[in-house]
Amino acid sequence: TGKSSFVVVANRLPVDRVVAADGSTTWRRSPGGLVTALAPVMRAYDGAWVGWTGSPDDELAPFSTDDMDLISVPLSPEEISMYYEGFSNATLWPLYHDVIVAPEYHREWWDAYRRVNDRFARAAASVADEGAVVFVQDYQLQLVPNLLRRLRPDLKIGFFLHIPFPPPELFAQLPWRRQILEGLVGADLVGFQRGGAADNFVGLVDRYTDATAAERRVRMPDGRTVHVQPFPISIEVSEITGLLSDPDVVQRGTQIREEIGSPGSMLLGVDRLDYTKGIGHRLKAFGELLAGGDITPDEAVLVQVATPSRERVEAYQTLRDEIELQVGRLNGEYGRIGQPAIHYLHSSYERAELVSLLRAADVMVVTPLRDGMNLVAKEYVAARTDLRGALVLSEFAGAADELGDGAFMVNPHDIDGLKRTLLAAMRIDESEAEERMKLLRDHVLSHDITRWAQEFLATLRST
Ligand code: G6P
Repeated sequence: TGKSSFVVVANRLPVDRVVAADGSTTWRRSPGGLVTALAPVMRAYDGAWVGWTGSPDDELAPFSTDDMDLISVPLSPEEISMYYEGFSNATLWPLYHDVIVAPEYHREWWDAYRRVNDRFARAAASVADEGAVVFVQDYQLQLVPNLLRRLRPDLKIGFFLHIPFPPPELFAQLPWRRQILEGLVGADLVGFQRGGAADNFVGLVDRYTDATAAERRVRMPDGRTVHVQPFPISIEVSEITGLLSDPDVVQRGTQIREEIGSPGSMLLGVDRLDYTKGIGHRLKAFGELLAGGDITPDEAVLVQVATPSRERVEAYQTLRDEIELQVGRLNGEYGRIGQPAIHYLHSSYERAELVSLLRAADVMVVTPLRDGMNLVAKEYVAARTDLRGALVLSEFAGAADELGDGAFMVNPHDIDGLKRTLLAAMRIDESEAEERMKLLRDHVLSHDITRWAQEFLATLRST
């Protein structure tokens, strides 16, 4: 493992640890479009990926899987608590998602964030070849572009934010707003999910840093230019069609329908258990439809997969309690033996099982209060090779910019509107469903993550 001319820097490594019966450890590539999209680039340029394993104190020598070198950045338990759970997920995450819960500002968390960002930057600097391209990911690492540029002015540095970038009046709360902005403009290209996020960023850079910015271009005091542009991320469509080419995956979709019994409509939600996802709003609307007699449990069932996430962060524990209380009440009220109103699944599933669920669902319910993109909405579309099913989509997901024509759009705060939209989606006739699904598929199939990666990297090289 020598130097690399293409380096990805992300909070997490794209592998999961597999411990064998004899106690030995191997690593398996984790599911996820990003690593797949970048794999060909990795192969062509002796790529390296710098990231954290997800476990405390993992001091691993560089190792390789799937033609890429993996460089592990160790985090101590204290750093996990202050950099990852604290500053990343209890300060930045809620601040960048419209302060749905109140962000906490702690100086010790900020210190840890700076220290850990510095460690990532040094790891990237030591593996990058002369003139290499370095692609930094997401909100956990916003200081890396500038730290890396100081260490290695020869590099081409790109940064992509996978989550929303907030409006100026919210970002202004952050005690370290100037440092974060200065961290980001260390890149040659800063990418966002939506145009609005790019505009928020440009305005804030102009206001709070020494750079001048307008029209998605930042002019640094030293004359350097930073390019700012939206690049809506997507999914690996071929992974999903590949899974569907296995007849068992399609068959399992039918089997799921049999297992849930008679209901005419199956509604489905698949989310990390996160307060940004609007799971409570969805349950409220579904519960009111049952309460008002608009639907009965014989007519419709909601399957909600809630993948455990960030379980040591308090807001996530509170959310879990609230959601489980809500589900329990609704099932107590409307369920019968063998027929709950809601199937609530607090676990993570294999990709194949998820695709079978997507195939089984009549209505996919995606109701985030704020979401950078929401890839589940796109995965649903990719899975519906049969041109059936309906997508209910929040206007507050990044995906709304692209899928607005074919989806049933909703404001999840408007519970009456959400109820009406759920009913409309449940009652859609086959020909309209097909028409809408064709519109959705036209877009998703022609804008997959490979195209996203190519566009980002081509733009970065041309800067
Ligand atoms: C979002 C973020 C990612 C993050 C993922 C899972 O999609 O944009 O950076 O990896 O959530 O969260 P976790 O905290 O488990 O990495």
